[in-house]
Amino acid sequence: MEMSFKGITIASMAFAMSLTLFVANAADPNPLQDFCVGVPDPHAAVGDTNNLLRSRAVMVNATLFPALNTLGVAMARIDYEAGGVNPPHLHPRASEMLVVLEGTLYAGFVTSNLQAGGNRLYSKVLNKGDIFVFPQGLIHFQLNIGSTPAVANAAFGSQTPGLVTVANAVFGSTPPILEDVLTKGFQVDEKVIGALRAQFRPSDQPDFHSYI
Ligand SMILES: *[C@@H]1O[C@H](CO)[C@@H](O)[C@H](O)[C@H]1NC(C)=O
Repeated sequence: MEMSFKGITIASMAFAMSLTLFVANAADPNPLQDFCVGVPDPHAAVGDTNNLLRSRAVMVNATLFPALNTLGVAMARIDYEAGGVNPPHLHPRASEMLVVLEGTLYAGFVTSNLQAGGNRLYSKVLNKGDIFVFPQGLIHFQLNIGSTPAVANAAFGSQTPGLVTVANAVFGSTPPILEDVLTKGFQVDEKVIGALRAQFRPSDQPDFHSYI
């Protein structure tokens, strides 16, 4: 199954989008708002990648951009340092289309185990101009495998796609999931679970044992 298409450039996407806008405008010439204030400093819009993952995703959904309300779309910009990762996560309410603006990414998603050959990984190395699609609700990721920073834009088919980051949800929930669930669920001992919890425990959450 070929999930990415080389040679589709930003320019051709922009052309396709302008066609779409033209059609939409023909049906409804009214702007959705009187004006839209841009970001004063464009550099401030770039994600700060100074963190352990060395990546930053900035989601523009209906909360941050109320003009999206009722329109069923949202976007994100993702910045990755060399080696930076957008860790395994999913969007419960939207499929996602990713386009690489700069750099080289290894991207993939895993099918649900209800499908034939379940838990199957579909992955691809993506270069500038390549696109990839992540189906709604499936775990996916991107890793910058190049030696320079990478940038991607993502488009979502929902104004509020939602975000579940697997490690943070499982090992960093508030309150924590009972340890037995995790040791048995992941078939490892408490030390391993403890180490993972230490990585993902929210900073305002003292210690697992104070919850039971
Ligand atoms: C919109 O995205 C922001 C940032 O990821 C998030 O905090 C907020 O909860 C999202 N809004 C909705 C309605 O999902």
